[in-house]
Amino acid sequence: MSRLIFYTGKGGTGKSVISCATGIKASQLGYKTLVISVDPSHTLSDAFNVRIGYEEVKIKEKLWALQVDPLVEMRNNFAIIQEYFVSVLAAKGIDETLAYEVASLPAVTQLFALLKVEEISSKSSYDAIIIDTVPSGEALKYIQLPKLLGSISKKLIKLALPLVDLGKILQPIIGLPAPSKGVMQKEIQLISRLEKLAEILKDSDACSLRLIANPDSFSIDNMRRTLLSANLYGINVDLVILNKIMPEVKDEFFQKWVSLQKESLEKAKISFYPLPIKFLELFDTEVKGFEMLEKLSESLFQDEDPLKIYYKGSPFSLEYKDSHLTIKVKVPFTEKDNCEVERMGEELIVKVKQDIGEVLNVVPLPAIANNMKLLRAKLLKGELEITFVKENGG
Ligand SMILES: Nc1ncnc2c1ncn2[C@@H]1O[C@H](COP(=O)(O)OP(=O)(O)OP(=O)(O)O)[C@@H](O)[C@H]1O
Ligand SMILES: [Mg+2]
Repeated sequence: MSRLIFYTGKGGTGKSVISCATGIKASQLGYKTLVISVDPSHTLSDAFNVRIGYEEVKIKEKLWALQVDPLVEMRNNFAIIQEYFVSVLAAKGIDETLAYEVASLPAVTQLFALLKVEEISSKSSYDAIIIDTVPSGEALKYIQLPKLLGSISKKLIKLALPLVDLGKILQPIIGLPAPSKGVMQKEIQLISRLEKLAEILKDSDACSLRLIANPDSFSIDNMRRTLLSANLYGINVDLVILNKIMPEVKDEFFQKWVSLQKESLEKAKISFYPLPIKFLELFDTEVKGFEMLEKLSESLFQDEDPLKIYYKGSPFSLEYKDSHLTIKVKVPFTEKDNCEVERMGEELIVKVKQDIGEVLNVVPLPAIANNMKLLRAKLLKGELEITFVKENGG
């Protein structure tokens, strides 16, 4: 089984260069490594300065790279499902071009890119696969799909196969095109592959998600949300990397940026607690080509094995029982700290008064909390326990 490391983060935070740098370090330590990019914009080619296509390309001893085009993946493997999906939308009165747009939504196509990762990891002999993802972590949501459909769906679909012809008879009645046998068979395949993918992603001994942020509130908040989602889906996040940290400078203009970044670093330490955070400095030029990437990998990992699991556990946990939702968040505060909680839309702002002053901690809320009201929040043994209750009390 290969070690799988996914890098995610907002656009431009450094996913591609850090993925390449991780691949370089791993290969230099003797691991047979593949770096995959599921970003259609050829970022690996740019970073390595080597033409990389849809076939694995050898970059250096023990190091390969591959570009996956989610749309090509989808077309090659599941065009038939897409066609069906489009016909359903068209039957609902959605214009065909628009239907194709919907059927090619980024999250959906990204899922197909993930399926390619599943295919490679189950067939290949790589020790490590490093995956450079696109900015949104949305595709991860879809790994829940098999669970949502339930394992029963596979049996249902199998049962339904002989009914396809019946579906055709029903078509004028239900008003939707019936899926063909081909579609049904592909769907069965798709569901079992999704199940396998979910298994791989949830195996914390093999798979890690790493969050990359820059020292600014936007990218930190964004990754905090991803951390919550990953926890909800049971994917282990083992490391946070704060990239592009500016060095101390004399210049007044940049000095302001430096102090803003310092504030963000403090925020990050609280936001990602207890995950380990690595800090990576801003280089004086773009990171391009093997030598620069190698330099970045040295700076990031030094003597460490980049494949190690830096952390295992869930900084967030959720429990829903008797119309009460309890969220537990690990926090670096003590019971003595005076904490105040305020809800702001989809977030909970936790203000903690400490000796050093007031510290803010933003807790992203899961969708289920939308229709619930905050009942109480308390600090217990390094954990913040927040309870919500359904608006109508039951
Ligand atoms: N520590 C750094 N110092 C200097 N430049 C950096 C650093 N990290 C990344 N860069 C530069 O920032 C730009 C964005 O980096 P990169 O392409 O890796 O980000 P990304 O997260 O993959 O972006 P996208 O979301 O567009 O795919 C690149 O030009 C890269 O060379
Ligand atoms: Mg990129």
